Amino acid sequence: MTLAQEAKVAVVTGAASGMGRSTAVMLAKEGWRVLALDRVATTFSEYGHTITTTEVDVTRRDEVADAIEAHCAGTGQVIRLVANIAGIYPPSTLDDFTEDLYRRVFDVNVLGVLNVTAEAADRMADGGAIVNFASVDAFAVSRGQLLYGASKAAVVMLTKELALELAPRRIRVNAIAPGWVNTPGNAATGRMQAAASGVPLGRVGEPDEIARWVTILAGPDAGYMTGETVVLSGGDVIR
Ligand SMILES: NC(=O)c1ccc[n+]([C@@H]2O[C@H](COP(=O)([O-])OP(=O)(O)OC[C@H]3O[C@@H](n4cnc5c(N)ncnc54)[C@H](O)[C@@H]3O)[C@@H](O)[C@H]2O)c1
Repeated sequence: MTLAQEAKVAVVTGAASGMGRSTAVMLAKEGWRVLALDRVATTFSEYGHTITTTEVDVTRRDEVADAIEAHCAGTGQVIRLVANIAGIYPPSTLDDFTEDLYRRVFDVNVLGVLNVTAEAADRMADGGAIVNFASVDAFAVSRGQLLYGASKAAVVMLTKELALELAPRRIRVNAIAPGWVNTPGNAATGRMQAAASGVPLGRVGEPDEIARWVTILAGPDAGYMTGETVVLSGGDVIR
């Protein structure tokens, strides 16, 4: 099989819901073979063998390693894209945070990115791409998001450090910082409708228009870009 014929393998975390799900589907439609990881079970029945789902908690490096090994050994193929999208955003303040909540937020949002990146990197093709999901809360203060904002600021900095580490292999590492996006997780906060009126473009984002940027950052148009975080917030946060 020549390089051109070889299937493009992408690992997508948080693939059961929201932007992770949209990203997995968009990549499958564009011809990628997707390993869709999530802590909860999910199916993509209409995509047949194009999307493989595995239940994995990204905070468990052993589970991540097993899933990637099983997939790559099974297909004999290398990974060309990792999209680290799994994340949690429970509210927290100085008054109500607990050590348990701190560990949960940082374990999923920060350690999860590290675990998946570390396990995938060995299986990645030189010239591949990694896209991490940060948040506008990494750049602008969001009331009641004490731990979440700090965890996403860590993702922005991890993205820069990893970009430098992986540059010798021409693996580019970038991040996306969404603002308000119409996802199930976000809808559950009950704050989305009110938030929409405050967004300069007058609406919250749709998962597909964020997922599109994963494919842009993975593709040749972003071939000279690494270590950057792209803010997609309808003007809500302008740096
Ligand atoms: N929705 C927004 O407006 C928004 C804004 C900024 C940033 N983000 C970030 O974008 C990403 C996706 O957000 P979303 O709203 O689409 O999410 P969502 O809540 O709809 O889905 C997140 C998915 O991650 C999975 N997940 C959580 N913990 C996991 C773990 N330990 N291991 C494996 N999977 C796990 C969940 O099961 C879920 O399927 C997150 O990192 C989030 O912080 C979201």
